[in-house]
Amino acid sequence: MENNVIILAGGQGKRMKTNMPKALCNVIGEPMLEWVLTACEKAELKEICVVKGFEGEQIDAYLSSRKSKAEISTVMQAERLGTGHAVMQAADFLKAHADGNTLVLYGDAPFIDADTITGALALHTEKNCGVTVVTSRVENPTGYGRIIRTDEGISGIVEHKDCTPAQLAITEINSGCYWFRTADLLEVLFDIKPNNAQGEYYLTDCIELLIAKGKKADAFISANPNVALGANDRRGLLMLNDIARYEIIGKWLDEGIEFCCTDGVSIGNNVKIGAGTKIHSGVILRGNTVIGENCEIGNNCIIENTTVGNGVNLNNVQAYESVIEDDVKIGPYVQLRPDSHIKKGAKIGDFVEIKNSTIGEYTAVAHLTYIGDSDVGANVNFGCGVVTVNYNGDKKFRTVIEDNAFIGCNTNLVAPVKVGKGAYTAAGSTITTDIPDNALAIERGRETIKEGYAEKKLKARTEKFEALHRSSEGK
Ligand code: UD1
Ligand code: CA
Repeated sequence: MENNVIILAGGQGKRMKTNMPKALCNVIGEPMLEWVLTACEKAELKEICVVKGFEGEQIDAYLSSRKSKAEISTVMQAERLGTGHAVMQAADFLKAHADGNTLVLYGDAPFIDADTITGALALHTEKNCGVTVVTSRVENPTGYGRIIRTDEGISGIVEHKDCTPAQLAITEINSGCYWFRTADLLEVLFDIKPNNAQGEYYLTDCIELLIAKGKKADAFISANPNVALGANDRRGLLMLNDIARYEIIGKWLDEGIEFCCTDGVSIGNNVKIGAGTKIHSGVILRGNTVIGENCEIGNNCIIENTTVGNGVNLNNVQAYESVIEDDVKIGPYVQLRPDSHIKKGAKIGDFVEIKNSTIGEYTAVAHLTYIGDSDVGANVNFGCGVVTVNYNGDKKFRTVIEDNAFIGCNTNLVAPVKVGKGAYTAAGSTITTDIPDNALAIERGRETIKEGYAEKKLKARTEKFEALHRSSEGK
């Protein structure tokens, strides 16, 4: 028996003033739908069906772009006739998984978590329920469906617009997340009628229909106070971002991460950080970034989909899709573009850009250097202002620099070219042919001295300067 998930993502972000499905609006750099999928994957649910509606092809495009661990199919809800109607569109998916349990989630309620999902499933199976609703106790229940409790469990959910004054006072609300026994859900799903204040097919009506068939319904109160939160407009979305930002920082504080000041700090939901690491202000960690132990991530670093080892020190670094090994020091003002691999103990100094290149162990690239499409060995020293000339306007070529080489200041290495082991380039050389091991390559004109050359010129220039002084003093 495999349990399965239906994610409702038909909604339009009309008040977001965007042409995107609401579930694709971002919270901390990830679509809300991604947060929901992450929670499912953490709860080890792999059979997932997304119900799309508004701009459904954008949902398809997003799902096909992501590296998915789960099996995700989609169905289209052509008209938005309510949450019950949305689930009806996934009937074929339900029939294909009828021997399990179905979790229903909203694609635009990003803070559902794996503990809530598995905790609710445990209650659901233990109590042998047809349906188990995930609920939350909130200070202001306005707009939410209210939970009607009984001695045995619950008897139903009443939507805010359908509540009596007494029901309006109930503060336990429906989060919109449910576990159904799949076969039971199929038995009642198509009996839902749109006879309510909004004229919609309410999924919540399944509860009374299941009870009428002798099934049990219960509620699981989530320990997560944000489980039901969603956003209707940009202000609401910013609030979700703020909540997520502090929740994630709080989680890492508990794991022993030191934050000096959290201004501008934003850490993605899938980022991992090792104990003893210190994070300064303005640091943005995105995607599947992994930071090791005892690192110092200095001000204003942006690290995306990058793996950072232990004991690494970064300062004002931007790194994308790269690997930084242990004990590396980088910065300030360095960019690592995709597919850069900086090996153990290397030092990358100010104003260096590295792209699609490997930098060997203990190699130093101290200042003002561009290394693109290159394989650099261990213990290489780069002088200031080295450029790998990797592009002829048409094709890109690789530069190879072997172990212990010494690249003089302002060297151009015109690829394809190789600098052999231990070889030197003289400062200012433009290297176009391979350099054998242990050789020195010099490519530059010999210096010529012309004695006294400047005297006449200097006289004219000093006279002009003195005239300028006199006229400004006369003013
Ligand atoms: C729903 C619940 C309510 C609960 C609340 C929690 C019902 C009848 N009510 O109310 O008890 O407290 O969620 O947030 O279910 N959607 C579709 N297609 C549709 C309708 C909705 O995909 O036809 C999706 C929306 O995009 C959204 C979710 O389902 O992700 C919830 O829809 P919404 O209309 O906002 O439900 P509520 O009225 O808030
Ligand atoms: Ca030259």
